[in-house]
Amino acid sequence: MPNYILINSKIETFKKKMNVVSDKSISIRSILLASQAVGVSKISNLLESEDVINALKTIKKLGIGYQKKNNIYHIQGYGLNGFDFKKKVTINAGNSGTLARLILGLLVKAKYKVKIIGDKSLSKRDFSRVIKPLELFGVNFKSNNNKLPIEILGTEYLRPINYLENIGSAQVKSCIILASLNTPGTTIINAKTSRNHTELMLKFLNYPLKIKKKQHYEKISIKGLNQIKAFNYNIPGDISSASFFIVLALLTDKAKIIIENVNINKSRIGIIKILNKMGANIKFKKRRYYNGEEVANIHVENKKNLNAVNCPKELNSSAIDEFLIIFLVASKSKGISRFKDLGEMNKKESKRLDLAVKFLRLIGVKVDRIKNNISIYGNPNLVLAGKYEIKNFLKDHRVFFLSCITALTLGGNWKIHDKDAINTSFPNFLESLKDMGAKIN
Ligand code: S3P
Repeated sequence: MPNYILINSKIETFKKKMNVVSDKSISIRSILLASQAVGVSKISNLLESEDVINALKTIKKLGIGYQKKNNIYHIQGYGLNGFDFKKKVTINAGNSGTLARLILGLLVKAKYKVKIIGDKSLSKRDFSRVIKPLELFGVNFKSNNNKLPIEILGTEYLRPINYLENIGSAQVKSCIILASLNTPGTTIINAKTSRNHTELMLKFLNYPLKIKKKQHYEKISIKGLNQIKAFNYNIPGDISSASFFIVLALLTDKAKIIIENVNINKSRIGIIKILNKMGANIKFKKRRYYNGEEVANIHVENKKNLNAVNCPKELNSSAIDEFLIIFLVASKSKGISRFKDLGEMNKKESKRLDLAVKFLRLIGVKVDRIKNNISIYGNPNLVLAGKYEIKNFLKDHRVFFLSCITALTLGGNWKIHDKDAINTSFPNFLESLKDMGAKIN
């Protein structure tokens, strides 16, 4: 089977209900926290994608057993730092920045060296953002200039830290929170707003963690060395995966879609706020909570007269993984859309801001870029008729998804390489598109 797909026609109108894959951030966190709990935790609706499977393999290498019974993952924890390995181990985090950075937080007491490796994309990413705070806890590192491979050696003499996290990275914040669990005393993080699944999960588990909201920061205080009891957890749908179907419906003539059971945590719904500012009419229905996370059914329908947006940078963090697909909507809207301060996009699975500009220019959209700010000149009548080939994007799953949605909504003849990129976060992406009526070879 070739590792590329061909799309030669736009999708026709559809009216559908769907479920999207489970949330990747929450899936990985549930595995890591179950590995620290006392007893057997049961996790249902776990996302079975490569990043999450690598999280399962990681805890297994560290001596934590798990089994899948009737679609529920049973994870046997032995309490905080209950890892059991007798000599140096190597963990392959694959493509997952979240896994690689969060597991370091749980290895602060590791008695033997643990080496973290990853794929080509992850090996290009910078880890100084987590090495720096963990060194303050007293942990030792060897790295390749702050890149993988990294070796961590824990210490018995951990000290709590008081840290200013001013990137707005949930991976950094979560890494520090996980490190604080094993550290005596109270760790304090003043963190710029970012997704808060780790905090919500720990609160759901009754862990002593306090959060005080300041204007742009949150002060998080965590008391270390409190045991976590085994828990049951049900993972909701992933809004980042849903976003591609939201835009597919928004840009397809007379289309309507309901995406059921999606996590609508405030720190993740920037895309909805931005698209609604542009004139979309996306609604959350049947809002409810489970396991401390808010969930809803998302209703979207096609909208003809979308307007450009001047995107407030306060929304950047809650839409950070969705800008690629938001840029497609901007290309099809009336006026010039402006986005500011998107440097973090270049720190993801690929240099997404650079690739986005290249991609938009390839499909004939005018884009101005000054540093990390971009302006997109939209055209509501934009249709494509040429030939487009998408390759060399470091197998970034979200670049692959963007290419498919562009082909299906704007037309043209597309060859999109590295189909296996979908396995990172959304293994049944192509089947879900075909269920909507997409023709893909
Ligand atoms: C994630 C946090 C974000 C996001 C990534 C997943 C997480 O990264 O882009 O896809 O699960 O914590 P940063 O923490 O680097 O912003």
